[in-house]
Amino acid sequence: MLKNEHILVTGCAGFIGSHLCQSLLEQGAAVVGVDSFDPFYGRARKEHNLAMIAQSDAHGRFVFHDMDICNQEVLAEMMNKAGVTGTVHLAAKAGVRPSIADPSGYAMSNVLGTQSVLSASSQAGCKRAVCASSSSVYGNNTKVPFAETDAVNRPISPYAATKVSCELIAHAHHHLTQLPIAMLRFFTVFGPRQRPDLAMSLFLSKVGAGESINKFGDGTTSRDYTFVDDIVDGIVRSYERIDGHGYRIWNLGGDHPTTLNELIATVGEVVGREPTVHEMGVQPGDVERTWADLSRSRDELGYSPSTSVRDGLEQQWAWMCAHREVVDS
Ligand SMILES: NC(=O)c1ccc[n+]([C@@H]2O[C@H](COP(=O)([O-])OP(=O)(O)OC[C@H]3O[C@@H](n4cnc5c(N)ncnc54)[C@H](O)[C@@H]3O)[C@@H](O)[C@H]2O)c1
Repeated sequence: MLKNEHILVTGCAGFIGSHLCQSLLEQGAAVVGVDSFDPFYGRARKEHNLAMIAQSDAHGRFVFHDMDICNQEVLAEMMNKAGVTGTVHLAAKAGVRPSIADPSGYAMSNVLGTQSVLSASSQAGCKRAVCASSSSVYGNNTKVPFAETDAVNRPISPYAATKVSCELIAHAHHHLTQLPIAMLRFFTVFGPRQRPDLAMSLFLSKVGAGESINKFGDGTTSRDYTFVDDIVDGIVRSYERIDGHGYRIWNLGGDHPTTLNELIATVGEVVGREPTVHEMGVQPGDVERTWADLSRSRDELGYSPSTSVRDGLEQQWAWMCAHREVVDS
């Protein structure tokens, strides 16, 4: 099916976006990538990600635009000219902790940006859209695992609040335009090229360099970590199936919650060095646990994550060792 598709990927120079573009190209789709090189982390990493996409583009089916997604008219005109058939919207200011210092910037890129991308997609005659939401929408819900039908009206960070808002905006857009839209709640994504602000990246870098790491809280908080190849597989499955659902939310998780203490121990094993840990207080905005109920995504998408935290961390560490100049940039 993808062979006939011409897909807009926003945030293509980012971590998940670059992996997705490679996979789409390898499956025969044409891809239009958009990214504005948000300064949240270094441009050199994003240039490296784009170079990885170029390596997968054997048939010249990838075009990149350095463009802000909030510029709806420019975006729609470009999509029209390119003949885009569908959209995967990943561009966002990502990250929970930095959102506390910049709630307006997050609202601009994530909320306005999502409306702009959806409106431009309809203007350009797209047949489907898939958007990144986040497990953070579940806030500090105590019932686990988190199911798509659980209440998500108690976000505890500006970032989470923007993602809940995106889901509402997408629902209204679907209601008014009938554009099929999938909202995917990703649970902490990891693997080669992971964002440098995320705990796994930080821990691998610091333990590898023999530096101490900060542990926030007592280490019993837990996350459902999801390997990036599993996320990409879930995105493609939802892209292929969303027209049969109209508007649908799906969890994409790893199915095995890992405590912070377990993660730190595994990082030590992978790197081959005992981590030195500084005990710190709890970080505001951080949720206590995440754990995806995958019943719906298994039943409706055939989604089945297959990479363990240990195996995925080995791959992430191998990538970091092989690309020191990018990691240290
Ligand atoms: N990585 C995770 O663990 C995780 C978990 C849940 C949800 N998500 C969501 O998945 C998506 C991708 O996350 P990621 O980890 O790859 O992040 P990333 O920061 O690596 O990628 C996002 C990309 O979007 C671009 N961008 C930001 N604002 C833009 C704008 N206004 N116009 C154009 N481009 C813009 C950035 O330059 C960046 O390259 C995001 O929507 C994020 O919120 C990620």
